[in-house]
Amino acid sequence: MAAEAKHTCYEGCSVSSFQFYLEKSGEHAAILKCVHSLLPEEFKRIGAGKSSLDVLGIGSGGGEMDMQMLSLLQSTFPAVPITADVVEGSSALVNNFKAKTADLPKISFSWHVMHSEEYEKQVKAKGDIKKFDFIHMIQMIYYVDNMAETIKFCHSLLKNNGRLMIIVEAANSGWDILWKTYKKDLCVDSIKEYRSSGEVIACLKSLGLKYEEHPVPNSYDATECFDPNSTTGGRLLSFMTGTDNFYESFTPEIRAGMLDLIRNKCSTEKDGRVFWNSHLSCILVYA
Ligand SMILES: C[S@@+](CC[C@H](N)C(=O)[O-])C[C@H]1O[C@@H](n2cnc3c(N)ncnc32)[C@H](O)[C@@H]1O
Repeated sequence: MAAEAKHTCYEGCSVSSFQFYLEKSGEHAAILKCVHSLLPEEFKRIGAGKSSLDVLGIGSGGGEMDMQMLSLLQSTFPAVPITADVVEGSSALVNNFKAKTADLPKISFSWHVMHSEEYEKQVKAKGDIKKFDFIHMIQMIYYVDNMAETIKFCHSLLKNNGRLMIIVEAANSGWDILWKTYKKDLCVDSIKEYRSSGEVIACLKSLGLKYEEHPVPNSYDATECFDPNSTTGGRLLSFMTGTDNFYESFTPEIRAGMLDLIRNKCSTEKDGRVFWNSHLSCILVYA
């Protein structure tokens, strides 16, 4: 199991593929907009009257979003000591994250370079459980072995008034439609079961947890995906299908079917360009 779970963490060419995707998709800008509209009030409420604040990031990647949220928290409570624990299985991305932390010298970081299942095991074995005011999982819930167990565990780590923030692709977004339609061809490697906000909400309901959901609109220009000679198109398609190389991973019939679906069911056309629907959802789970 450990070897399989480790495979979900980005190493080697998945790191560059992910970075390329971030440059092209505008995803971080969309998430940041949501963070800046929701978190100032959330942080004021979470931190009211507290003499220290503890944040846990799970699947933080290169930490771009973490740094923004931590900086917002610090500016909301400049005199309160803040700790940040990071659980991220990719050592390459953790190194990228570490290189950014000099910008927040007052925050004390602890690094857990492992997958979340291993962190859970270690925390439970140790007994002395550190609790958190704010826990976030941004675009990573697809990769955990057992979503309900992971959410239950994270929820159990919340302090009084804390919040667990989960950001995932929205139900009926392009990702959701593509991955569910081509489940048999796509859910074969690091993602065995595609989860969008629909599955996360169903899981929260079954666990009896209180939550609120906020839309995070995003779309990006996927026109080049339809040009077989475009390197950008090929790289985007590879990331969107979770493969190293879209053109080498599927038969011509399956590729044609996916491209048709992407254009006609997962996108909108404007001025001759095809915009892939990459709407996300931000779910805040109450302690
Ligand atoms: C799509 S990236 C998102 C990174 C970051 N949250 C962001 O939005 O920029 C998913 C991240 O989750 C990490 N990951 C995947 N499976 C994991 C697991 N089981 N435990 C911890 N991290 C995991 C990957 O290494 C990768 O950095």
